[in-house]
Amino acid sequence: MSKLILYKFPKTYDIQQMKKEIEDNEDLFSLITNRQKEYHSQRNTQTIFLRKGIPEKDKPVYEWQGVEDSDYYATKFPTIKNFLDEFIEIFGGNLHRVLIIKLPLNLRVDEHIDTGQYYQTKDRFHLVIRGKYMYGMKGLSPVIFKEGELWFFENQVIHWSKTIGDIDRYAIIFDVENSNWREFVSDEINNKLTNVPETDMIK
Ligand SMILES: [Fe+2]
Repeated sequence: MSKLILYKFPKTYDIQQMKKEIEDNEDLFSLITNRQKEYHSQRNTQTIFLRKGIPEKDKPVYEWQGVEDSDYYATKFPTIKNFLDEFIEIFGGNLHRVLIIKLPLNLRVDEHIDTGQYYQTKDRFHLVIRGKYMYGMKGLSPVIFKEGELWFFENQVIHWSKTIGDIDRYAIIFDVENSNWREFVSDEINNKLTNVPETDMIK
């Protein structure tokens, strides 16, 4: 079993067209605002829901049992959809919730764990589309996530983030069930907590 709780994928992705898709559709951030209202740790964030979880009847709202595409996912965000389709093609698994998150400059997501049964069977990834942010996990030195980088992190470990630099950050956050991505990682790295070089860490 892999020990990895934070993993930076080796490839840097070309995110220019994905960034344009988001900048052209900024108004969608004000369409659904329950996430920042319901979760105190997320109060500074804004979200576009590309694939939205469907809660099960009589269960807490974060116990999503299904998922559905928003009607603007394929039409307004074709490059982002293409990236995600390719991810599944390469690494396998089932794509679940997909969100675009905006976190304004110098604001933070407070320390938290992503709660609920839903997350027990999903891996959580971030693709950084614009700007940069400090990302912290309990037990590790904080690191910096930058444009074009794809990261996995174990969201059952306490984590937080803060936008730094000079622009509001965008990231695509997505959950995958039964992905084989760890098979593409060497045994040596799978047996460590992270593959992040010391030089990428903030002391
Ligand atoms: Fe989280």
